[in-house]
Amino acid sequence: MAMQTTAVPRRTAGFRKIVINGAIASALLAAFYAASLLLERQGLELDNESVWYAIRASGAVAYLLLAASTAWGILLSGKLVKRRVPAALALELHTILSWTAIGMSVYHAYLLLFGRFFDYTVVDLLVPFVGPYEPLAVGLGIVGLYLMILTSASFYLIDRIGYRSFRQVHYLTYIAYVLATVHSVLAGSDGLLFNPVYVAVSAGLFLLTLARILARRPHAPRRIYTS
Ligand code: HEM
Repeated sequence: MAMQTTAVPRRTAGFRKIVINGAIASALLAAFYAASLLLERQGLELDNESVWYAIRASGAVAYLLLAASTAWGILLSGKLVKRRVPAALALELHTILSWTAIGMSVYHAYLLLFGRFFDYTVVDLLVPFVGPYEPLAVGLGIVGLYLMILTSASFYLIDRIGYRSFRQVHYLTYIAYVLATVHSVLAGSDGLLFNPVYVAVSAGLFLLTLARILARRPHAPRRIYTS
């Protein structure tokens, strides 16, 4: 007798994988932090300046990944990409970019727990606007990160919330991007170096969005991306 198998929808399986990987990554981060506290008690402190450089570098990389993911998301639904790149590949690249941006942002925030340059606690990282350094600017970064997670995770919930709601939630990406930009400009200490980058990247995204809106014919059939 043939064995009956229950097919798990790919999206649900993908969401489960992300939750499991997220839990493993959180456990590793917690273990690493605990180990660093133990070493600190033994007088082995991390070099403050190196931690500070790593915070800034990871913030800059997270920002560029977020911009790349947003740009690819806009291009993905345009003719240019649809004609040249297979839908599954285009979608996979968008997913990888957005989750890597989230991972790098989490790493960027996590590093604030190390060294003595900033005096952050886990609660300061999770609750917006309460931290010891530039609470408004950093709070905007925290809200931006939550929106990044929400918009990326919503893809896996299309079956439950429907494609229309998914699209509406997905527009929050723009707000996440704006919040990340304001956060980067106001909280960053490398303003003079990075401000031209923020302006150039934001202008590029604005023009891409404008081109996408103008190119959209009102009754053109839309390709719906599913995994
Ligand atoms: C939990 C969320 C976040 C926290 C707690 C946080 C915290 C901080 C802090 C304290 C700084 C100042 C570092 C310094 O320059 O001295 C900073 C800068 C920065 N953050 Fe974040 N951030 C968060 C999320 C994000 C996100 C989502 C992005 C982008 C996707 C981002 C990108 C940046 C950039 C580019 C800088 C400027 C680096 C520099 O110019 O020195 N941050 N962040």
